[in-house]
Amino acid sequence: MKSQIDEKYFIEQIQDIKEALGEELIILTHHYQRKEIVDVGDYRGDSFGLSKTAAEDKAARFIVFCGVHFMAESAEILSQPHHTVQIPDQNAGCPMADMADIYNVERAWKDVASITGKDAIMPIAYMNSDARIKAFCGRHGGAVCTSSNALAAFGWGFGRREKIFFFPDKHLGYNTGNQMGIQPDEMIVWDPKKPLGGNTQESIKKAKVILWDGHCHVHTRFRVEHVLKMRKEYPEARIVVHPECTREVVELADEAGSTSFIVKYVENAPPDTTIIVGTEINLINRLALENPDKEVLELHYSLCPNMFKINLKNLLWSLENIGQANVITVPEAVKTDARIALDRMLALTD
Ligand code: 13P
Ligand code: SF4
Repeated sequence: MKSQIDEKYFIEQIQDIKEALGEELIILTHHYQRKEIVDVGDYRGDSFGLSKTAAEDKAARFIVFCGVHFMAESAEILSQPHHTVQIPDQNAGCPMADMADIYNVERAWKDVASITGKDAIMPIAYMNSDARIKAFCGRHGGAVCTSSNALAAFGWGFGRREKIFFFPDKHLGYNTGNQMGIQPDEMIVWDPKKPLGGNTQESIKKAKVILWDGHCHVHTRFRVEHVLKMRKEYPEARIVVHPECTREVVELADEAGSTSFIVKYVENAPPDTTIIVGTEINLINRLALENPDKEVLELHYSLCPNMFKINLKNLLWSLENIGQANVITVPEAVKTDARIALDRMLALTD
């Protein structure tokens, strides 16, 4: 009862500030945010859609990003000079993004380039990465991608160079390579803790895709046994998963795609369909609520604790300290190079 009163109080305060600021403020909410955050936001979307909204917005001065840090950072890089981007909790990070740090990436790049020549490798960073990794890609002729345009980015990369070095999600990289028909023995994993990433000179020469050894702990929680169990219980159901899941899970599912793909998939399914979804639980719960004519079930319970750090309390605090609290800043040199890689991504999908 008390928490309901609190919630009502926070929502009213947030609405009052929104009203007072009018067009000067936009609140962006990622699909994995709690329902009450999505409800008070102005736009909801996947990491690609939200970064595009930030890039294209003209009216607002303040962008409050309800998502994880790399998303707010990308919005800041793409935003206009008159924007200030804030995140309600600076500690809402992404452990996968932290798996590729610039020191190890630069060392790996030198190692690979010494074997293949640098003109043979195209660096592509997943949006879920630090700004310095995006800047590295921008400097070396590469691009950023999200799960909604990874296939286009790989096609773009292979049109220009022989090999792709993909950071930091090995599963998205593998699943995308697989979709392009690249053979498993032409994709190698780079473990930064080992000499030559745990590979031989020969395997590096042969590889078409080099996958940084990173993963999302939320999406790798889905396992083959979960798919088999749900298939047995719901033989008529469709199973759709995010491509950050392992290749085994993706191969057993009916479809794999970005969060926006999953949203559209559920929305477009005929009434009475049962859809089993392998992604973050807050999105699945919302999809179930918003599509009462369908049965939307979780493949397995998996919550992103970092997305969950954003709540009504810290959102209200950001709004009360608009333009000041938890402002995202990126050093100018990093911003310039990262923007090149992000602009290449935006051009890809235009
Ligand atoms: P989207 O790019 O689909 O929004 O996914 C971001 C993410 O963090 C998935 O775990
Ligand atoms: Fe990062 Fe995974 Fe959370 Fe997405 S779901 S923000 S990849 S930890």
